[in-house]
Amino acid sequence: MAIDLTITIAGEGGEGVISSGDFLMQAATRAGMEVVTFKSFPSEIKGGYALSQLRISDEKILSQGDGFNILVAFNGEAYSINKPLLTPGTVLVWDGPHGDFEPEAIPGVTMYNVPMTHISKQELKNPIAKNMVAMGSVAGLFGVPMDSLKASVAAKFKRKGQEVIDFNYAALQAGYDYVKQNHKKTDPFTFPPARPAKDVITLEGNQAIALGAVVAGCRFYPVYPITPATSVGNYLSELILKVNGFVYQTEDEIAAIAAAIGASYVGIKSFTATSGPGVSLMTELLGLAAMAEIPLVIVDVQRGGPSTGMPTKHEQSDLFITAHGGHGDVPKIVLAAADVEECFYLTIEAFNLAEKYQIPVFLLSDASLSLRVEAIKRPDIKSIRIVNRDAARSAVDPKEFMRYKNTPSGISTMGVPGVPGSAYAATGLEHSEDCGPRTSAETKTNMTEKRWRKLDRIEEETSPIEREGDADADVGIISWGLTQTMVREAVVRLRKKGHKVAALYPKVLWPVPVRQIEAFAASVKTVLVPEANVQGQFAELIRSKTSVVPVKQTLYRGEPFLPKEIEAKVEELINANAAVPA
Ligand code: COA
Repeated sequence: MAIDLTITIAGEGGEGVISSGDFLMQAATRAGMEVVTFKSFPSEIKGGYALSQLRISDEKILSQGDGFNILVAFNGEAYSINKPLLTPGTVLVWDGPHGDFEPEAIPGVTMYNVPMTHISKQELKNPIAKNMVAMGSVAGLFGVPMDSLKASVAAKFKRKGQEVIDFNYAALQAGYDYVKQNHKKTDPFTFPPARPAKDVITLEGNQAIALGAVVAGCRFYPVYPITPATSVGNYLSELILKVNGFVYQTEDEIAAIAAAIGASYVGIKSFTATSGPGVSLMTELLGLAAMAEIPLVIVDVQRGGPSTGMPTKHEQSDLFITAHGGHGDVPKIVLAAADVEECFYLTIEAFNLAEKYQIPVFLLSDASLSLRVEAIKRPDIKSIRIVNRDAARSAVDPKEFMRYKNTPSGISTMGVPGVPGSAYAATGLEHSEDCGPRTSAETKTNMTEKRWRKLDRIEEETSPIEREGDADADVGIISWGLTQTMVREAVVRLRKKGHKVAALYPKVLWPVPVRQIEAFAASVKTVLVPEANVQGQFAELIRSKTSVVPVKQTLYRGEPFLPKEIEAKVEELINANAAVPA
């Protein structure tokens, strides 16, 4: 049977919850396991509820799952929040005695106390090491290799000095010794033994975006930092130097998008990454990129909105602004990544589409995906298709060259500064084929149609959408972004129960892939669209562009769906359909 073990560590921001989860994740990847992580923390630097969850398997993991097998609770709040998930068969490792809570006995739940606060404060005189006392106890109880935890401690705290490394080693040992001396193991969970390492690389979502951009040929990254997009730039600032590119921190988001457009105008592939509030500021310049037909990639790592909202929390609520944002008719493409691997490949796809169609392309990710760690198959960089724009590469006849030639595809050859004969004005003003400003009805009509014609071919020219499940399903689920990973898990479970279910996993959300959505809807009785926003934004886009009227399942609590919530909704729909007389 496949290994499927989920460990949740929960406590207060500032107690080292996130580091603890990272150390366990590193131990699992060193053991050759597949991992998927989920982290959730407040936007404060210290205080508030923080959680780090790790799901480990020897097989491909579909989603972060519904709950945990083992909960390590650093304080009473962490215990109270997670108490509903302490179901029979689960294990609680808790801070006590001398902590701030005492759990009640729950039938079927194995409980191990570890005086984490007491040992770190009173015995080791180092309260910050509480998390390592906890990790030592986890190693003692479940067999996480101490060597691996020590290697992570050494790597993480090297810059803080040997003294910090040493007191953390002591804390690990103290937690380990405590459980060995005070507890007899009565639960069935053990950390999986090491297996031969697979040819994988372990990345966070934002790291994969940075890597994808460099592989796509990006050499310039102007940015104004914003949670949860900031770490794209942190990774890229080191990576891009290796390919003679550079990161430029601008004074605000407007300057960042303007710089990306400027660089792209001269032929340098560039992009910027932001989150909802930054997208709002950038919308004016989207129009310039669309009007001047300049390739542009913007990564939107969505967070809870509106306004400053919940900067560190999950939401999928920027679909409307990315699809419709901008004054006037702004053609653009919106893609959405579901997992870390797609953060890499769809970043490349975003560049390819921007280059090919010379329009703005958004890639949507989100706060949870930005931090999610996954082991992905090592990409074969040489085999990845890279598209470069249609541009004048050598001297052209200035009398013949028409930058905005009204071609059947809407795509016209770009001029490149410095290439003789290809000089042109890239302007936000409406213009004729030769780039001269014009206001005639004919020009406005023709050039608007030229710009929008590009979108006609997107569905045919991008990869067919993956469909899985039964050919004649009772319920067909259409989802996007991270929610797709929960849908995958729900579909497996529902089909195991004998339900007829199918799912469609679009990556291009705008322009809406009308033909494939219509065909999918025709093959199922009811279409369900689960998404993490209150309006049902993708469901609304589908309604407005197709004849399909989906059932919405919306959620806006700042945390992603659980697979079981989608499973329950599908069963509700199947039962409702069954109750309707034929
Ligand atoms: N010994 C020494 N140092 C330790 C330690 C140990 N045993 N355990 C943890 N630490 C350090 C960590 O190294 C980290 O310091 P660093 O940032 O210098 O590396 C720090 O303590 C916090 O630990 P960490 O495990 O990373 O996080 P946490 O679980 O304590 O939670 C956060 C803290 C993540 C909630 C908080 O730091 C944060 O980032 N909040 C979000 C801020 C934000 O983005 N706001 C939005 C603005 S719009």
